[in-house]
Amino acid sequence: MSDRYCVIGNPIAHSKSPQIHAAFAAATGQDLRYERCLAPLDGFAATVRELVAQGYRGANVTVPFKLEAFRLATRLSERARAAGAVNTLKFDGDGIYGDNTDGPGLVADIVRNAGVPLAGKRILLLGAGGAARGAMLPLLEQGPRQLVVANRTLATAEALVGEFGQYAGRLAVSGFAALEGGFDVAINATSASLSSELPPLPPAIFGPGCLALDMMYGNKPTVYMEFAARHGASVRDGLGMLVEQAAEAFALWRGVRPDTNEVLTSMRRST
Ligand code: ATR
Repeated sequence: MSDRYCVIGNPIAHSKSPQIHAAFAAATGQDLRYERCLAPLDGFAATVRELVAQGYRGANVTVPFKLEAFRLATRLSERARAAGAVNTLKFDGDGIYGDNTDGPGLVADIVRNAGVPLAGKRILLLGAGGAARGAMLPLLEQGPRQLVVANRTLATAEALVGEFGQYAGRLAVSGFAALEGGFDVAINATSASLSSELPPLPPAIFGPGCLALDMMYGNKPTVYMEFAARHGASVRDGLGMLVEQAAEAFALWRGVRPDTNEVLTSMRRST
């Protein structure tokens, strides 16, 4: 029988993960099944236990269960620990291993797909919630010249940056309006785009050749992408990050990293 995986969330009907993993399995010749799994809001742990009992090999975890998955895992990767959240579970004989592939997916999309190396660059990260937290360590590991975290609530950004003391010399915190100078890469990790809101950003943040990326995606550009494009940045939505985080999870489970180009191209055509 094929190895079984799923994505657990609530709601889950619109998840693109089954489509992505089916394409990866076909391309790599891996024999697996990947489904959607709707867990009750108060039943995440019970759902995971049931999957383990049924012999599932792993699962992705999405909204609103990433923090619960972090607490449920019996072992954690370093990047999951730094993110404080888990989006990938692997069930092996040794319990429940928790990883977080969101940040590595973001970095892979910027570096490989957009072709923008991050070493030596000045990076802006907008937001200091769960999505921003997951991006911190993977971005810092690329060796940027500076990573500035800007957030509506300054104290939250200060607390987040404080957790990465080892990189203190390269980190800074700012409010939106107080941002100074141009950036090479400006990533929107706030949830403002969900409600079509734009943080009050000075247009000068988009330096020459700047790549502006919004972690959100949809069938049209977000307000942040429109703003960035108006001010000369090249823009990117979160679809590449979605496909790349899936590829990282697939690699953890199957030991082979699928090529993401074709999947990303076909998904761009269908969104
Ligand atoms: P997620 O898991 O998507 O990161 P979260 O942990 O709730 O969600 O974090 C939401 C982030 O978006 C926070 O940085 C939040 O700013 P605050 O810390 O000030 O709350 C930010 N955010 C949400 N709505 C926003 C808006 N309209 N303008 C600017 N920032 C916003």
